[in-house]
Amino acid sequence: MSAGHYFDDDPDAPSAPTMVEVTLPDLSMTLTADRGVFSAEKLDAGTKFLLQEAPSVAGATSVLDLGCGWGPVSCVTAQREPAAHIWAVDVNARARALTEANAAAIGAADRVTVAEPDGVPDDIRFDRILSNPPIRVGKKALHDMLLRWLPRLADGGRAHLVVQKHLGSDSLARWLGEQGFPTERLASRAGYRILEVAMTGDQQ
Ligand SMILES: C[S@@+](CC[C@H](N)C(=O)[O-])C[C@H]1O[C@@H](n2cnc3c(N)ncnc32)[C@H](O)[C@@H]1O
Repeated sequence: MSAGHYFDDDPDAPSAPTMVEVTLPDLSMTLTADRGVFSAEKLDAGTKFLLQEAPSVAGATSVLDLGCGWGPVSCVTAQREPAAHIWAVDVNARARALTEANAAAIGAADRVTVAEPDGVPDDIRFDRILSNPPIRVGKKALHDMLLRWLPRLADGGRAHLVVQKHLGSDSLARWLGEQGFPTERLASRAGYRILEVAMTGDQQ
């Protein structure tokens, strides 16, 4: 039997919920994770870097948490920006259930919509996309995912992606530029990069 992956649609690892502390300079919360989802034991260091260093979401009304896992990005964003509606998307059914439960636990169920990728209506556009993308799905699947969602940024919208340098952040940035998405490296620390992708309107 395969060991399974955090990006499986329906993880077969038996459920064993864990409580995870999300501690950031401006807030802290305790959320629930589980086996079969990404970084079930603790907030991933890359995700923490993204939540600390990506520019504020203030003013955003529609945010996509692309590859939500157990929901740290959605829950922190909901807490920080009460005016924003967050779409939390993941292929992993257990991850979606956890994000839904975690959003409810922090009182943000009405502002976080959890969906599988096909469940987001085509007309929704995002001011912001935040993602710790699933590099381990392979280059083709990663590229397909980004080409599916980046064009759904509103004009002037931005995506912030955290990627490890040794997992190809620099080549991903180059590839995004070649696809017509101007991409800058915003921050870099301890082997992680935050890439900013800008929607200029020419890409739609
Ligand atoms: C690196 S994990 C990040 C999870 C969470 N955001 C965090 O920071 O803890 C990437 C997530 O992307 C999800 N994923 C993989 N392929 C996807 C796809 N095509 N569309 C949406 N999500 C996907 C995986 O299931 C996984 O939960």
